[in-house]
Amino acid sequence: MKPELRESLKPGSPEERLLAGVDFERLPRHVAVIMDGNGRWAAARGRPRVFGHRRGIESVRDVVEAAGLLGLEALTLYAFSRENWKRPEREVRTLFALLRQYLRREIDELDRKGVRFSAIGRLSDLPPEVQADLDMATERTAGNSGLRFQVALSYGSRTEILDAAERQRTGEAESFADGLYTKGLPDPDLLIRSSGEHRVSNFLLYQGAGAELWWTETLWPEFRRRHLYEAVAEFQARRFGGAAEA
Ligand code: FPP
Repeated sequence: MKPELRESLKPGSPEERLLAGVDFERLPRHVAVIMDGNGRWAAARGRPRVFGHRRGIESVRDVVEAAGLLGLEALTLYAFSRENWKRPEREVRTLFALLRQYLRREIDELDRKGVRFSAIGRLSDLPPEVQADLDMATERTAGNSGLRFQVALSYGSRTEILDAAERQRTGEAESFADGLYTKGLPDPDLLIRSSGEHRVSNFLLYQGAGAELWWTETLWPEFRRRHLYEAVAEFQARRFGGAAEA
């Protein structure tokens, strides 16, 4: 366990207990997360959906920090699917505004922690000012060697697969895998979904073929590092039988 991770743990906390059973030599290399339940979380409080998205940013912050402390190689968060363009325009605008705000506020901290940021998906579909902020964050952190943090935007796995096949056919990519957005990254070996849904929702279908699926009833705005640690412990128990109790 990294010293910074140890220092982050309150003695006797659920986080400390969960990590006590984790084997740091056998972490998942790449964790992918389908963040779900912001709308329901807000509706349960009689608030508009965007209130849930705003709160969901705190979960993003917590999970990214925890992934870095754990020492994961890669974390991919599914923030906006191609289907999400059908949502009301105001909601879409707010989501992108929140993303831009997040990038501007967090980039120094991400950079300081050695995080390497990137975005995947049909990025040319995004408004130019969003593309500019994504480019800024990508370029600022390009030289870092810590956590590879990817955000999937206007992402759809079937489209990605078709595009990759085309890139391979035309010689633009040397191999099929090189034509995927995730070129150079290990395949996700743990796929997490919040809010009690058990669907894969057109997310990393090719890369996640061998991933362990872990889900929680917790809605995304209440998802915290504890849930990530729980998923990692369960991943090890399933893959290596009993490692979580070791
Ligand atoms: C899921 O809840 C919400 C999303 C997929 C949007 C998350 C994106 C952001 C908060 C934008 C910023 C992103 C980053 C990475 C900083 P839902 O609306 O599908 O909830 P519901 O299923 O309850 O309706």
